[in-house]
Amino acid sequence: MADLNPQAKQMADESMVRNLAAQAQAIWPQEAPLFQRYKLPAEPQVLDAGCGTGEISERLAALFPRARVLGVDIIDHHLELARSRSASLAPRLRFEHQSVFELDAPDHSFDLTVCRHVIHSIPHADRVLAELARVTRPGGYLHLIPEDYGMIHFQAGALDPRDFWHETLRPFAAATGTDLFIGRNTFRILAGMNLQAITMDYVVVDTIRVPREVFAAIIEAWRDGYSEAIGELTPVTRARARAYFDQMIANIRDPKGYAVWMVPVMSARLPPEG
Ligand SMILES: C[S@@+](CC[C@H](N)C(=O)[O-])C[C@H]1O[C@@H](n2cnc3c(N)ncnc32)[C@H](O)[C@@H]1O
Repeated sequence: MADLNPQAKQMADESMVRNLAAQAQAIWPQEAPLFQRYKLPAEPQVLDAGCGTGEISERLAALFPRARVLGVDIIDHHLELARSRSASLAPRLRFEHQSVFELDAPDHSFDLTVCRHVIHSIPHADRVLAELARVTRPGGYLHLIPEDYGMIHFQAGALDPRDFWHETLRPFAAATGTDLFIGRNTFRILAGMNLQAITMDYVVVDTIRVPREVFAAIIEAWRDGYSEAIGELTPVTRARARAYFDQMIANIRDPKGYAVWMVPVMSARLPPEG
């Protein structure tokens, strides 16, 4: 069976803690209004599946002040960080060690099931989406960020980042059993799951909407966390991977430069009962 957590090392690295903080800063301001479209009960039960350091679990608890929010992950260090930073919100916000492949919750437990930046990093995204749907109540919602590395664009400099994505994505995905284009491919999975009201929106992380330093911090964290694995799993060496990332960072920091990461935000509704 394929390794169910092929990015375990990168996910547990300190660079991921920085990355999740920067991603939340970059993405949440555009994403938060999308939650208003869900018709939720007054005291909703919310699951943050693959919650990492709880950046977003905490924001969800703030956005829905009467919600009970459960964040689950398989990295205990992230869970400890999440618990310590949001201790004042316990027990309304709590964190548990659980895998998204096999959640502890009974069927139909949550009104809103959130899963951000997870399914691009694991094999069998369809199994995870089925498990998320299982624990979501009839009439409840899935809210997903399935990353897609064909939706990130930089300008060429001494190096052309287009070459980097072209040379690395296919071998990296093959070696890890993952789908790095799961953003576009999630639609087909959801459409085959008897779900309703499937939506696709985009958070635009670009050098106009997001502070350049926040965007640069994301790519710095990717450079520090992933260059080694790219060197091992693809024809691009570790040093060259770092050079490509540095090129992207320079592009972002150039006051006249433009770069964009289109982040898909998807939702779907479980068919209501009756
Ligand atoms: C890129 S982080 C995203 C964290 C968080 N959702 C956010 O948006 O800030 C991906 C997280 O998924 C977690 N993860 C990977 N496989 C998992 C599994 N089988 N069950 C639960 N969490 C998992 C990783 O440990 C990591 O913390």
